[in-house]
Amino acid sequence: MAPHARVGVAQVRLSSPMSNSQPFDTDELRSSFLDFFVARDHRLVSSSSLVPEHPAAPLFTNAGMVQFLPVFFGEEPPASPRATSSQKCLRVRGKHDDIEIVGRSSSHLTFFEMLGNFSFGDYFKAEAIQYAWEFLTGTLGLDGERLWATVHTSDDEAAGFWQELVGLPGERIQRMGEDNFWEMGATGPCGPSSEIFYDKGPEHGEGGGPAAGGEERYVEIWNLVFMQNNRLENGGLAELPKRNIDTGAGLERILPIVQGKASVFDTDVLRRLIGSAEELAGCVYGRAEEDDVSLRIVADHARAV
Ligand code: ALA
Repeated sequence: MAPHARVGVAQVRLSSPMSNSQPFDTDELRSSFLDFFVARDHRLVSSSSLVPEHPAAPLFTNAGMVQFLPVFFGEEPPASPRATSSQKCLRVRGKHDDIEIVGRSSSHLTFFEMLGNFSFGDYFKAEAIQYAWEFLTGTLGLDGERLWATVHTSDDEAAGFWQELVGLPGERIQRMGEDNFWEMGATGPCGPSSEIFYDKGPEHGEGGGPAAGGEERYVEIWNLVFMQNNRLENGGLAELPKRNIDTGAGLERILPIVQGKASVFDTDVLRRLIGSAEELAGCVYGRAEEDDVSLRIVADHARAV
């Protein structure tokens, strides 16, 4: 997931909650994702430790792909060619560091669960794009008219699949450079990516799609990484032994959308933690912006710890 600029959090409900969506809670949303991919021949894999073992891994697990490093590097064969998981992640330092914007952003957390489907030399771009679309618009019932996709500037193939296989109009497919090239860290597996964004509506910021800004309006909910490269210590790019798929969908980010809420902090688990912080601090959420920022930070950090 790409870093976002410092922004304020709108304390409003979405104007038009999705007409067909179910009021999923955290557990239902997680199960529906994992069930969807298990039904499509993915092996269900548990979340690994937040402290990874592989010597090439970052200090803390920052993405669902970290536990599969030996497979991506070709050091071990995969237990099956497809996998799915809900991985606990921590992003507090290093390449993916969101800690400074937590509390002021409606979608960033230091600790979160990343829903993922993985292909180890099995399916590639076409299937990954179609699975994501089918889950979002079919299983979750999100309005496809509110979804945008970005692809790497060089990736005509992925842009073509979004148009031809999914029917996404060309004007809702945008191209970006480094925002659409995902890397685990300073070194390690990486590759061009295609991100999916949900448009919360004009009351949340300027239009023009995710490439034009409006980061509180266009929320990145899913990243499809076409994991085919390895960033070397000298900065060069090598090929991985196979072309893989590494995806990450933010459980906490999708939840407010299916619940018709504006922020991750308005959803079940985080709102309860804010409630505890309100009691301890003797203040009421929603009255003063700076108090609200603090309450959100306490809720996020308490959960991460
Ligand atoms: N590994 C990719 C990410 O974290 C999916 O965005």
